[in-house]
Amino acid sequence: MKQQIIIFDTTLRDGEQSPGASMNTGEKLRLARQLEKLGVDVLEAGFPAASEGDLDAVSKIAAKLEKTEVTALARANKPDIDRAWQAVRHAAKPRIHTFIATSDIHMDYKLKMTRQEVLQAAIDAVKYAKSFTDNVEFSAEDGSRSDRDFLCKIFEAAIEAGATTVNLPDTVGYAIPHEFEDLVTYIISHTPNIDKAVLSVHCHNDLGLATANTLAAIRAGARQAEVTINGIGERAGNTSLEEVVMAIRTRANYLPVKTAINTEQIYPTSRLVSMITGIMVQPNKAIVGANAFAHEAGIHQDGVLKNPMTYEIMKPETIGLSTSKLILGKHSGRHALRTHLKNLGYDLSDEEVNLVFKKFKELADKKKHVVDEDLEAIVTEGVLRTADIFRLEYQHVTSGTTVLPMASVKLSINGRPVQGADYGNGPIDAVYNTISKLTGSRAELLRFSISALTGGTDAMGEVTVRLRENGLVALGKGADPDIITASAKAFINGLNRLEYLKTHPVQTPESL
Ligand code: KIV
Ligand code: ZN
Repeated sequence: MKQQIIIFDTTLRDGEQSPGASMNTGEKLRLARQLEKLGVDVLEAGFPAASEGDLDAVSKIAAKLEKTEVTALARANKPDIDRAWQAVRHAAKPRIHTFIATSDIHMDYKLKMTRQEVLQAAIDAVKYAKSFTDNVEFSAEDGSRSDRDFLCKIFEAAIEAGATTVNLPDTVGYAIPHEFEDLVTYIISHTPNIDKAVLSVHCHNDLGLATANTLAAIRAGARQAEVTINGIGERAGNTSLEEVVMAIRTRANYLPVKTAINTEQIYPTSRLVSMITGIMVQPNKAIVGANAFAHEAGIHQDGVLKNPMTYEIMKPETIGLSTSKLILGKHSGRHALRTHLKNLGYDLSDEEVNLVFKKFKELADKKKHVVDEDLEAIVTEGVLRTADIFRLEYQHVTSGTTVLPMASVKLSINGRPVQGADYGNGPIDAVYNTISKLTGSRAELLRFSISALTGGTDAMGEVTVRLRENGLVALGKGADPDIITASAKAFINGLNRLEYLKTHPVQTPESL
């Protein structure tokens, strides 16, 4: 019988630490529901000690999910553990996740604590967490760079104190697969009570080895993998859920384990994460990248037509990628739209479907065929992005070879209409200057990119911007058949995200 690997998703906690990836509570709730549909076993919903906003989001997620275990992160101290418990206590299956660094470099320079003090803090934290729930995870931060025997000693003590999961993080993405496999083997054979807990791993991707290290650890006996969707996370990110799950499934002959993930929900979940966070998935990303199943070379195409397995080791349908794209036109009805949105992974309320339907009809008047990418852009703008302060009412620009580009823009700010005009050295500059003037924003445009969502000259243009104001960085996205409107929408979306960040800064355990 194959043993099951527990999939612990930390997209909402470690994933949110990606620069610019902050999500509001509504977005987090929607994503949490999708992660439950995907079948993750444990969902790390946040770090409640960071802020009231984090505590509130984790509490709402905990109250909402029915099957999935919900956990919250806490440093090894009583106030953090109190807040973590306050946030998850209403979950159907709550877990407290407490951690402390165990490498000499972290203990000496960051914590300024001796090994004995760290050991005691870990024991006290686990015992305290255990007073609230039986389900306690202990993580040894920077575990892969810690002294092996100290690591085994602290795991043994944590299990003795009541930890039901002990987690080995490769916090700085330093490990190499053989070495990591060897470390897991060492821990299993030198921690006398390891059979009383689940051994977990949590890898970062600084050397591009997070998935390889996670799989190596699983081969050695780890039974929980901590992952994020699309591999998002601090710096180069975390281990990607889709890579680990599909490697286990595709190489079932080599890896004697299984997961409970509903793989057909992988692609919709990946799209949702990208839409909500604004972080694009690189086209060549394994499993979920736009090119992951695209065969360019003639020789490959020929082989795939004769038998897909010649060059395809996985079927696109397995990850929920439909090969036949439904094309909707202006005569398509609400029912067809709702069914199709469902197939794309968007389970919308009646009110949300009505909103999308209205926008879809508007687009279908301008564009003959509305395809999946168009629908996703509509859903993102109309439904997924909630609680906007600034909204675009209209924009108008004059530009050309002989006139000074000028824009006039009308916005609503918290429902109050404002309008104004300004010049620029191009139409986008003119629109951005006007929006900045109207909103009083001093945001600096760090990056601007535009691409066509589909082929054809009537395609929607999708603009992504990266903005910075007072050290805060936010991404913004906008799509429209008119690229100046798409640019305005992206800028406004970025400004809304900056506003949200001003009141809900993303705090990491290290930044507190
Ligand atoms: O990378 C890390 O060490 C972490 C821990 C808090 C589990 O995210
Ligand atoms: Zn991490």
